[in-house]
Amino acid sequence: MKKTPNKVVLIGAGAVGTSFLYAAINQGLASDYVLIDAFPQAAEGNAIDLSDTMSVLPFPATTIKAGDYADCKDADIIVITAGRPQKPGETRLDMVAGNAVIMKTIAEEIVKSGFDGITIIASNPVDVLTSVYQEVTGFDQNKVIGSGTTLDSARLKRLIADKLNVGAQSVDAYLAGEHGDSAVAVWSHAVVMGQPISKYIKDGKITQKELDEIRDQAVHMASKIIELKRATFYGIGAVLTRMCRVILRDEKEALMVGAKLNGEYHNNDVYTGVPAIIGANGIEQIIEWELTQVEQKQFDASVATLKATLIKARE
Ligand code: 2OP
Repeated sequence: MKKTPNKVVLIGAGAVGTSFLYAAINQGLASDYVLIDAFPQAAEGNAIDLSDTMSVLPFPATTIKAGDYADCKDADIIVITAGRPQKPGETRLDMVAGNAVIMKTIAEEIVKSGFDGITIIASNPVDVLTSVYQEVTGFDQNKVIGSGTTLDSARLKRLIADKLNVGAQSVDAYLAGEHGDSAVAVWSHAVVMGQPISKYIKDGKITQKELDEIRDQAVHMASKIIELKRATFYGIGAVLTRMCRVILRDEKEALMVGAKLNGEYHNNDVYTGVPAIIGANGIEQIIEWELTQVEQKQFDASVATLKATLIKARE
């Protein structure tokens, strides 16, 4: 079968999925895009709408179409955003029951298609649903990647950058663990323009109390956005595009993705946000930071929360 260069299949043509696709098309990431949705009209309507960019954007796609699971067979990447979105006042973990059923169905259909590429998952609760997907498909765990705490870390960077009046891309600061309320701020590895964050505290430019408040703001950013506009989609869409780019171009970039732990960070058998090198083969290496005792304890608690929810999701 002719191998289509850079074919990306999107499962879930809602706001998150189409925000991702619009960003990917704008960046010229792939040549062929297929949209799959439980509501075929959503896939068809968005495919037509996105196709109208082809004569306008600088890096036009070759094909953008609505399709079905047979289109997964020769795809390089499948991005899954399908599932009920978070409601105001709801935690991501509250969504597990209904969305786990949807994820299991999607996983079974993808196995049937003969797909052997890389899967990126953003459906919430993303750590738990990525675990469910990998268990149901039996795919190589390094070719199944959750969006993890990439978006949480992006929010943390922006908030620290605002406080220190520097560019957000000059801030290396990370949340690890659950993409959710128990995410862990890894201050021991936060660096701004080559200086550890502890230097900024010592120089009186920021206090630990302010950093802890920033951590809380980042963790609850989605709830704030959802209260204001009912859903988040541009931030996660950009993150998914970055993950796809790093894979399709084999950039070997370190991102805070959802990876399955096999003893790393003293934990096992669940997907959660950790630093990992991402490239053409998916997760190429999990980077093991030396956490402080406090960070390790918080990380263990975050993983325990995910494992308890995963037990429910398997039911
Ligand atoms: C977010 O953090 C809702 O998980 C999504 O924006």
